[in-house]
Amino acid sequence: MSNMLYEGKSKMICVGRDDDNLIIRYKDTATAFNGEKKAELSGKGKLNAAISNMIYDYLAEHGIETHLIEVLDETAVLVKKSEIVMVEVIVRNIAAGSFSRKYGVPEGTALKNTVIEFSLKSDELCDPMINESQITAIGLATPEELMEMTRQAFRINELLRVLFFKAGIRLIDLKLEFGRCGGKLILCDEISPDSCRLWDADTDKKLDKDRFRRDLGNVLDGYRDVLRRLQNVR
Ligand code: CDP
Repeated sequence: MSNMLYEGKSKMICVGRDDDNLIIRYKDTATAFNGEKKAELSGKGKLNAAISNMIYDYLAEHGIETHLIEVLDETAVLVKKSEIVMVEVIVRNIAAGSFSRKYGVPEGTALKNTVIEFSLKSDELCDPMINESQITAIGLATPEELMEMTRQAFRINELLRVLFFKAGIRLIDLKLEFGRCGGKLILCDEISPDSCRLWDADTDKKLDKDRFRRDLGNVLDGYRDVLRRLQNVR
């Protein structure tokens, strides 16, 4: 694509309508383990775009400022241009994934309080976990920005827990990214089964990227299920 500025693992970033915005196009590529595992899953781009757009609309209705300006087509959105904070914010309600591995807490264990973690956004370094004093020491974010990202991340998590609960889904954990735009921090990137762990509330069936990571099969059936259930409660 001639107007492409950058190609990421699962999305392309293209020139926008003017200098203040960009077009993000969702791809069908699925990756895991920092890109080591890769596959084309036909239709994933459309599913993630639809799920993320619905979630972003819901969050905007509840006062969260996001980068989303306009849905352009089934896989493309127009977004505000922002300076991405190079820190990923992970919020956990239930132990799973790297948390379970690192701390020896079985997957599915309820956590006594919501956990927030940060990791350095760097494919080269495999997104290492980083703490608040390290983040401010390196200058990745100011203490005020960290406080604001933490506040927003907890609020977004609470809003999404409610939305998913209505859809019969448990929000296990999620990853958020923020960008600086017009003197504020706004929510950027996608919120989809690629970036959240989502389990069926009755059966604990995984409906997210763990189906791909762990070769559980029927990856996109899980994503389609998430979309259908969200459509039913929106
Ligand atoms: O996937 P893994 O077990 O290595 O990582 P995690 O730290 O347990 O991931 C927590 C949550 O953040 C999961 O929902 C991941 O899908 C998501 N995540 C992400 O979207 N992008 C990353 N680079 C890392 C985690």
